[in-house]
Amino acid sequence: MTTFHDEVQKARAKYPTRRSAVMDALRLAQGRHGWLSPDAIREVADALEETPAYCHSIASFYDMYHLEPIGTHMVEVCTNLSCALAGAQRVLDAFADALGVRPGGTTDDGEVTLRAIECAGGCGRAPVVVVDHVYHEPVRAEDVPEIVARLRGA
Ligand code: FES
Repeated sequence: MTTFHDEVQKARAKYPTRRSAVMDALRLAQGRHGWLSPDAIREVADALEETPAYCHSIASFYDMYHLEPIGTHMVEVCTNLSCALAGAQRVLDAFADALGVRPGGTTDDGEVTLRAIECAGGCGRAPVVVVDHVYHEPVRAEDVPEIVARLRGA
C-alpha cells in the first residue's frame, strides 16, 4: 500500500524544488482526508521537510483548499461581476433556502456545503454554479429546487 509520504515523494520528483511541490502535496492530503486539518498540514510539512506554517500559508491563500470540514457535496455559486449582474445573489439565496444553510456553511447532516466563489471562468454563461466540480450554466433561481433534489438523491 502506498503511504502518503510515498505519494508526496513521487509528486515532489516532478518539481525543481521541494517548496514547488507544496500545492500538489496539499491536494493529495485533501484528497485523503477531505479537508486540511492541522494534522494533515503537519503531514504535508513533514513529507516536504517544510514547516507547518509555510504549508498553512499556502493552504490558507488558495480557495480550493479547505481548512474546515466540508460536506459530502459542494455547491459553489459564483457571485463575481458577470454572475452578479445575471442574478447570482438570487441563485445563492435560493440554494440557502433550499438547503437551510448560509453560504460558507454545511447542512446539519453534513451532506452539502454551500459557498459563494469568485469567478469560475464561465462568465459568458452566467450565473455559474459548480456542483461537485461539474459546471451548471446558466442557473436561475427557479432551477435550484431540481438541482438540490438531484443532489439529495445522489
Ligand atoms: S463572474 Fe461568474 S463565472 Fe466569471
